[in-house]
Amino acid sequence: MRLYILFSFLLLAVICSSCVDASRGTFGRLCSSNPSNRKRGCDNRYGCGHYGARRGNRKHLGLDILCADGDTVYAPFDVKLNGISRPYSKNNAINDGINLSGKGLCFKMFYVKPDRYTGTLKKGQRIGRMLRMQSVYPGIPSHVHIQMCDRSDPTKYF
Ligand SMILES: *[C@@H]1O[C@H](CO)[C@@H](O)[C@H](O)[C@H]1NC(C)=O
Ligand SMILES: [Zn+2]
Repeated sequence: MRLYILFSFLLLAVICSSCVDASRGTFGRLCSSNPSNRKRGCDNRYGCGHYGARRGNRKHLGLDILCADGDTVYAPFDVKLNGISRPYSKNNAINDGINLSGKGLCFKMFYVKPDRYTGTLKKGQRIGRMLRMQSVYPGIPSHVHIQMCDRSDPTKYF
């Protein structure tokens, strides 16, 4: 009986350490106001933040991570900056972003004004600043949009 209890504790310890690791993910902190990379949920007005969420006839191809307007945005790991990547063809106040690569991944981040579009950054260094999303989508949970260059689901990295 005592051995059984001991074994259960051991098993639990192993399982929990691996789930903590998984929840930490590949992406380190993105925004100054959201240390744990909390994801955008759903709201009645604008929809949901998960990959594959409906956007009219289209599909949401990224994952939204909560980020307050004006937040400092950080490199989630050591990255190379591959140039500008804009979310919209029609310009507005949040039509800026950047293509990044690192850890064997290529991804785009939208709604951010980067300090520069080329070069490299170490994990935790400043990429730039979250743009004023509330001025374009009043009441939306402000967020950055992370989209893999190959359009695959980024959720497993968070
Ligand atoms: C992002 O940059 C990489 C490296 O320059 C490039 O290969 C890739 O095509 C770009 N991806 C997108 C979706 O812009
Ligand atoms: Zn999005």
